Amino acid sequence: MIVEQLRITGQEEIAPRIYRMTLEGDSVQTMTEPGQFVHVKVSDGIDPLLRRPISICDVSQDKQELTIIYRAEGRGTRLLAAKKTDDTLDVLGPLGQGFPLDSLQKGSTALLVGGGVGIPPLYYLAKKLVKRGVNVRTILGFRQSEDIFLQKEFRELGDIIVTTEDGSKGVHGFVTDAMNQAEKPYDSFFTCGPVPMLRAVKAAAASDGFISLEERMGCGVGACLACVCEASDATSQEGKKYRKICSDGPVFRAGEVVI
Ligand code: FES
Repeated sequence: MIVEQLRITGQEEIAPRIYRMTLEGDSVQTMTEPGQFVHVKVSDGIDPLLRRPISICDVSQDKQELTIIYRAEGRGTRLLAAKKTDDTLDVLGPLGQGFPLDSLQKGSTALLVGGGVGIPPLYYLAKKLVKRGVNVRTILGFRQSEDIFLQKEFRELGDIIVTTEDGSKGVHGFVTDAMNQAEKPYDSFFTCGPVPMLRAVKAAAASDGFISLEERMGCGVGACLACVCEASDATSQEGKKYRKICSDGPVFRAGEVVI
């Protein structure tokens, strides 16, 4: 884990209030595990005090470039959206436990299910899985057609189904409606998005899988207990009844934590 002032190399609004930012620096070389996150200090002063956790969306080792995608909805992320190319950003990371790539062998099939700003970490995962020879199928859920992002990028990596709640594009309904319609088997699922969606995906899934939890955080490194969630199996991890999302997660085996 490293703290570095990364240089912003680009920033664009890719859907309403959804921003894609690229950053470069030496610490990007250590960002090899999809599902991990960076903890970003959005202002130079003490207000807002807390860093913002943002998942790693993509990494180019050649260019030493990190891509993050975030929604500008609170004061902190609106400050982030106001930053310009060549500004620097104080970034701590990579943090947390990511998706276990070795859970799938070459030739097997992964189902990736994402909703809203839970989608970005699945993109780096999809790239890594495809590189391992795993077939990737993706279901992405949005409220409406204007909100859609990363569709083209995922399509380059495998089959993709888009759902919208208002039916303005793709399958009308939720990601689970698309899961129920798609009859092709898969070996494992990987999902990230709002908790009600994670619950529904886990219930609808036909295999074991992994969920990534998004949570407000304090320290981001396991020291403050601001991010704990209940463990569903108190006998594992030495009887601990909780997990820290920042350091034990954010990725957990589905069923390991109560959602
Ligand atoms: Fe401090 Fe997780 S944010 S322990």
